[in-house]
Amino acid sequence: MRIAVLAGGLSAEREVSLRSGRRVAQALRNKGQEVFEVDVDADLLPELRKINPDVVLPLVHGQVGEDGSLREVLDVAGYKTVGSPSAAARIAFEKPIANQVAAAAGVFVPKSIVLPQEAFKSLGAPALLDSAISSIGLPMVVKPSHGGSALGATVVKSAEELPAAMVTAFSYGSVVLMQPYLIGTEIAVCVLEDKSGVKTLPIVEIVPDHDLYDYDCRYTAGMTEFFVPARISNEIANQANEIAIRMHKALGLKDISRTDLIIDGAGNIWFLEVNINPGQTETSLFPQAVNAAGLDLGEVFLDLLTNLDQ
Ligand SMILES: Nc1ncnc2c1ncn2[C@@H]1O[C@H](COP(=O)(O)OP(=O)(O)O)[C@@H](O)[C@H]1O
Ligand SMILES: [Mg+2]
Repeated sequence: MRIAVLAGGLSAEREVSLRSGRRVAQALRNKGQEVFEVDVDADLLPELRKINPDVVLPLVHGQVGEDGSLREVLDVAGYKTVGSPSAAARIAFEKPIANQVAAAAGVFVPKSIVLPQEAFKSLGAPALLDSAISSIGLPMVVKPSHGGSALGATVVKSAEELPAAMVTAFSYGSVVLMQPYLIGTEIAVCVLEDKSGVKTLPIVEIVPDHDLYDYDCRYTAGMTEFFVPARISNEIANQANEIAIRMHKALGLKDISRTDLIIDGAGNIWFLEVNINPGQTETSLFPQAVNAAGLDLGEVFLDLLTNLDQ
């Protein structure tokens, strides 16, 4: 097969995506495939025309890659593509909207305040921040409504830290989400879909050095401890698997997804988000889940690439 692996792009996660692309491209070459690594820029379509791939595998993180727009372009240009349809991606990418889908599907979602930058300016920031603290409490998480790798996300422990956290989050997007800081066990549940249906991979438990599983903890070896399978009861694991599958279906996702969850001290499982293009770097969660399942990364992607029903 001639496979075009798309990576890079212009988002803040460009470097992460390039690493994901390189890793998966190599895994597919090891399976005897002809793989072309394509950086996503204005020359994308002419370049794809030259390559003339049988199928396209997008591994671009962040805006354009995960908000449905790249997929829309590939569909219009007529390429067979792995992953979620653009309409579903658009919903999953915007955390406040995905949260609403999760809540409607009966999944616990942390109480959230969603503030667009415009409202923040025009309604009087100081008063809004005081009200937000009363409503959400401290500590809280302030994060951009979309994006990834925890970029722009901060744990706010005192009222004085809130304005700076808002500025940081707004620098990654024009809408900001404020949530209570959940204390518990963070897990990620990877979902794979094939002709026989939807299945989950072993759950990854994440124990970062920092308060959040932030950029440093993700991409610096040794800053996070992982446990696969997660050190949780079978009952909680079954519930978490069921939630990830429920979200994959409720959002209309396709082929692959990863749901991020936190289990609190009472055993309640809280929804953080779903990723349609989970990271595939050396320290990423999805490849760890693949390993723990006794599968080969190249094999997993080859299955997705060969089972496309478009
Ligand atoms: N409400 C919350 N309580 C505790 N930790 C959170 C909360 N929201 C996010 N986090 C932490 O921040 C990280 C990034 O948040 P997430 O919503 O998954 O966004 P993304 O991974 O797209 O940047 C999570 O992996 C988790 O460690
Ligand atoms: Mg996440």
